[in-house]
Amino acid sequence: MSAGWTLIDGIGSLVTNDPEAGEGRLGLLRDAAVVIGDGAVQWVGPSARVPDGAAGTRIDVEGRAVLPGFVDSHSHTVFGGDRAEEFAARMTGAAYGAGGIRTTIAATRAASDDALSANAARLAAEARAQGTTTLEIKTGYGQTVRDESRSLDVAAGVSDEVTLLAAHVAPPEYAGRQDDYVAMVIDEMIPACAPRAKWIDVFCEEGAFTEEQSRAVLTAGMAAGLVPRVHGNQLSYGAGVRLAVELGAASVDHVTYTTDADVEALAGGSTVATLLPGADFSTRNKYPDARALLDAGVTVALAADCNPGTSYTTSIPFCIALAVREMHMSPDEAVWAATAGGAAALRRTDVGALRVGMRADLTVLDAPSHLHLAYRPGVPLVSRVFAGGAER
Ligand code: NIG
Ligand code: FE
Repeated sequence: MSAGWTLIDGIGSLVTNDPEAGEGRLGLLRDAAVVIGDGAVQWVGPSARVPDGAAGTRIDVEGRAVLPGFVDSHSHTVFGGDRAEEFAARMTGAAYGAGGIRTTIAATRAASDDALSANAARLAAEARAQGTTTLEIKTGYGQTVRDESRSLDVAAGVSDEVTLLAAHVAPPEYAGRQDDYVAMVIDEMIPACAPRAKWIDVFCEEGAFTEEQSRAVLTAGMAAGLVPRVHGNQLSYGAGVRLAVELGAASVDHVTYTTDADVEALAGGSTVATLLPGADFSTRNKYPDARALLDAGVTVALAADCNPGTSYTTSIPFCIALAVREMHMSPDEAVWAATAGGAAALRRTDVGALRVGMRADLTVLDAPSHLHLAYRPGVPLVSRVFAGGAER
């Protein structure tokens, strides 16, 4: 115990995600307290049992709910411009296609480093204000060695979870020469960029990259020390899910069009299924069959997929509301997926739960329980956020 530590007391309902600490999979505790200090969780338990002199500072949250900070394992927040008009056209009948990505590639290439950094920082702050304390960030709107490289630097300025989305869509200068683009990624982009990223990602989809091209990029990334994650089965049935499981990817994301065989493959593997309902919402897509995945025992994460094309939101509470209303996840399943599920998708054991020794990443809601995240959609319920023990 230390005078520099802080006791957060008067917690009406605490999600720990530690089944040994409380009720159910969320490890729910009522009338609870948490002690944080030195950036970590130091003590968790019932208010009545807080050790004497546990901390020098006491914060009384007066019956509010506290949960682990959200772990948003999928975002594309390094980009220039926006695509509001494309969105409006879609809402009056136009279809979404991967080709829209090229609009943002042009705007990103034209943007200065400072402009890209300012935009990424703005979106990270927006996410943080809504309870996100870990945010993965992908490149993918450069698609040249130079532009992917500076996108990585911008991402690294905001997050430790940096993904090289080397093959998002073949840029215009490679129109009709997709294999040449893949060869350039393998021979030039990955060697130049890999040391500054943790993850390698591809968009395995009709109109983006084939199964063979995706496998080639991912295996080259793995050989360079990166861990694979995949954009798969977003717009159609395809090979993305199977490829991700085959390569032992940390996560396959979107997972909107799945066959029974895809669900079985996920259930038999270690790859997390990351669902991105914000993208399905903003593209008027169907939603993933979350029930089939959960009932088969697949680990499911929820992420916001913030990007200017398919999901221009940083709000995990919004995604939780969609997951519950549109994907038939229970509020408990959705909250778990947005915290512990996100941590699993990023293979992190220090975030996504509130257990002694984990990072002191906490969200205080202006509500008596986590259920209100889905029950009160669109209402800004996040009242305080602590990341690594520091209030934002
Ligand atoms: O995750 N699916 C591919 N990438 C993004 C969309 C990119 C865009 O339209 O700009 C996604 O939805
Ligand atoms: Fe994405």
